[in-house]
Amino acid sequence: MVAIPQLPSVQTEEIDDSSKASPFVKWAGGKRKLMPQFEPYFPKSFQSYHEPFLGGGAFFFHLQPRHAVLSDINHRLIETYEAIRDDLPSVLERLHYHRRRHSKEYFYSCRQQLNKGDLLLKSDRAALMIYLNKTCFNGLYRENSKGEFNVPIGRYKNPSIYDRENLTTVHNHLQNVELRVASFELVLERAKPGDFVYFDPPYVPISATSSFTNYSKDGFSAAKQHLLAEVFRKLAERGCFVMLSNSDCGFVRELYRDFRTETVTAARSINSRAKKRGAVNEVLVMSW
Ligand SMILES: C[S@@+](CC[C@H](N)C(=O)[O-])C[C@H]1O[C@@H](n2cnc3c(N)ncnc32)[C@H](O)[C@@H]1O
Repeated sequence: MVAIPQLPSVQTEEIDDSSKASPFVKWAGGKRKLMPQFEPYFPKSFQSYHEPFLGGGAFFFHLQPRHAVLSDINHRLIETYEAIRDDLPSVLERLHYHRRRHSKEYFYSCRQQLNKGDLLLKSDRAALMIYLNKTCFNGLYRENSKGEFNVPIGRYKNPSIYDRENLTTVHNHLQNVELRVASFELVLERAKPGDFVYFDPPYVPISATSSFTNYSKDGFSAAKQHLLAEVFRKLAERGCFVMLSNSDCGFVRELYRDFRTETVTAARSINSRAKKRGAVNEVLVMSW
């Protein structure tokens, strides 16, 4: 744990008045609002916690496990978590700097700088990632074919870029956490009997029938959904508590037909077409 130096506050901040940390990035598919619906299903006790599709980490922050292995395939996201865990004062200092300069021109120059990839310090890259995430369109993370982050600036009057108190709590919660850039199937290398594994993959399109074979919009193919179901089964056989969220459609129900499922209701928060925002059902699959 580190002592965070006091910097003058220059703009309104989100105030997190709970003792729990909350996600410090906006992330597509974020689960924060669903936690009250998930809570009744958590295992009573478990050893380590594993979250292989980490994103904004809402589930991890809610659960506050004593030991965790968190991973995601997005290397920029994982190194942002690492910088908050290992060098929070530097991340805060850079965030303060970005927040004071925020403007349209500044956003695009920062986006260019992130993509040039020549920032030597992880804390500098982490602060850029958080600044861009909180000021870009809908908090989306999208790359072009060259791997460049290409989301335009969002329409916020006064974006809340960071909350020092929350980031300090996040830093504290990350102290016993192992972070990895990895594809989800590598969870098989680490998870032991009695561990709790939560999967929140990119979702299958809601219209998918049991014969669905296409890619979803974020490139997570039907073949990957099949592989994920196989990994789920192997972990369940190993004696892990395995939980998974996905859209409520024929394809998903068929994949997990041997396991217990519950239905939860989610409000979509990231969708560029306002008309498409609304309540949708999701399934929660459990191995126990
Ligand atoms: C639905 S989001 C997770 C949202 C998260 N639960 C939250 O509350 O913010 C899915 C995540 O899976 C990651 N991802 C996509 N393909 C992956 C793969 N093959 N292995 C691991 N992570 C992957 C994406 O980078 C994204 O962060």
